[in-house]
Amino acid sequence: MVEVLADYQLVSNRAAGIIADQIRATPRGVIGLATGGTPVGAYDRLVALHQTQGLDFSNLTTFNLDEYVGLSPDHPQSYHSFMWQHLFSHVNIRASHAHVVSGLAHDFDQACAEWEHRIEASGGIDLQILGIGSNGHIAFNEPGSTLTSRTRVVELAERTVQDNARFFDRPDEVPRTAVTMGIGTILEARRLLLMATGDHKAHAVAVALEGPVTSDVPASALQRHANVHVLLDTAAASQLNSV
Ligand code: PGA
Repeated sequence: MVEVLADYQLVSNRAAGIIADQIRATPRGVIGLATGGTPVGAYDRLVALHQTQGLDFSNLTTFNLDEYVGLSPDHPQSYHSFMWQHLFSHVNIRASHAHVVSGLAHDFDQACAEWEHRIEASGGIDLQILGIGSNGHIAFNEPGSTLTSRTRVVELAERTVQDNARFFDRPDEVPRTAVTMGIGTILEARRLLLMATGDHKAHAVAVALEGPVTSDVPASALQRHANVHVLLDTAAASQLNSV
């Protein structure tokens, strides 16, 4: 299902509403979370729903999609810090239930296998939030990632490094590698919620949703999932043929 709303604020509020409904329906459930500029508005809204309506995170479990390799959890640009800054510090989630894979493992093969095992042991992800890269990536599954890929260490595409440089003081501070859930891992979530806003996402959105399913466009894998909700603003939807 593709839903187009006028602007970023409406997309954010709608996404937060969908996430809040999921939390209310399965308070002991599992949500997969994303980082980046796109979900910030939705997290702000979830914080407001917690503060004003008592939306309860106390029994919820979360798993984040990815983390930069080489950044400690307390590094200001780590995705661990991002999640605490934008969401976890402001709601009543239990720290031990809010999982962000570490970027500092001694043995990443083992850490990735443990991550997959943890998701499975939690009962699997009920609702996975996703953004999309301007190059069509989902999480840090860059073009070329197989559709059956699992959690692993990957090299970031040059385009991703450039896109994410805005979060760092200097472009050469952006890590070149990351740990990411695989496309196969993501497709096992029971529901997917993809958010995209802005002109710079319009091409990636169009090829992902209306082009062939191919590892050249990792987000095209979503066409293989039976329960995907895509939330777009008008700008991000502008190159779709069928909305
Ligand atoms: P953004 O990143 O939300 O910062 O645009 C999305 C992504 O790279 O998946």
